[in-house]
Parts: sequence; C-alpha cells; structure tokens
Amino acid sequence: HKALILNGPNLNLLGTRQPEVYGSTTLQMVEDMCLDHGKSIGMEVIHFQSNHEGALIDAIHAAKGVQDGIVLNAGAYTHSSIALMDAIASVELPVIEVHLSNIHAREEFRHRSYISRVAVGMICGLGPQGYVLALDALRSHLQGE
Ligand code: DQA
Repeated sequence: HKALILNGPNLNLLGTRQPEVYGSTTLQMVEDMCLDHGKSIGMEVIHFQSNHEGALIDAIHAAKGVQDGIVLNAGAYTHSSIALMDAIASVELPVIEVHLSNIHAREEFRHRSYISRVAVGMICGLGPQGYVLALDALRSHLQGE
C-alpha cells in the first residue's frame, strides 16, 4: 500500500513551535519515523507539507489514483476549511486525521473539525506517535480489518 503523509500550516516549525504544546520532535523526525514504520509494515510512505490551503488541496487531488490513503494533520485548517473537507470527499481516498495535541482539551475553537466529517477516524493528543498509529490504522482499513 501507498500512503501520503500530509501536513498543513505551521507544522514545518515543529520542534521549535510552542514546544510546551507540540513537543521537541521536528517534522523531519516525524517524516523519518513514518518512513521507517511504513517500511516495517510494508507501506510506501511519502510526505508533503505546505502552509497554503490550495497547495494542500492540490496534493489531495494529485493523490487520487496514486496513493491508497492519506494521513492528514491539517493544522489550523482543520477548524476552518470546508474546501479541504470537500477535496477529501471528492477523491474518495481514506483519510486518517492526526493531531499532535489533544484538541478537545484545548480552546473551544479547536473542538470542531471539518476533517473529521470525512475522515475514517482521528487520533489526537499522542504526539508524533499519532502518525505511526495512523499508518497502522490506515493499513488495517485498507485490508478491510
Ligand atoms: C494541530 C492542532 C491545531 O488546532 C493547530 O492549529 C495546529 C496543530 C495539532 O497537531 O495538534 O496547527 O493540528
């Protein structure tokens, strides 16, 4: 199986960005973890990050017919982007939503996720480990487990 790990705005600053909230692991380290884990479970993993809503939408469109699924941390667009939600609905690829922080333990405006409406499921609050768990979940989903 092939999976796209897609990260949205400000996640390029992971490791230095509000470490008390998001930890000290960099995005490069998260990517490496995903690649390694992907290999160990027989998944080919590629990664893309953008701070731009349109670029994320383009990446979702481009994944259609190429990738088997997407692990998505849409950052703050999670809480605002109907366009990202529609893009996911349009490509009919399974999406596992990930958040490093526990969005339900934070501000009210982080409690609503447009992505959750079209995602297979969501993992939040477990830090970088969430991406690894999401890959496992995507693989199980693709295998019909
Ligand atoms: C986040 C949570 C969002 O509310 C926030 O805007 C982010 C990161 C997370 O991974 O915890 O940028 O998606």
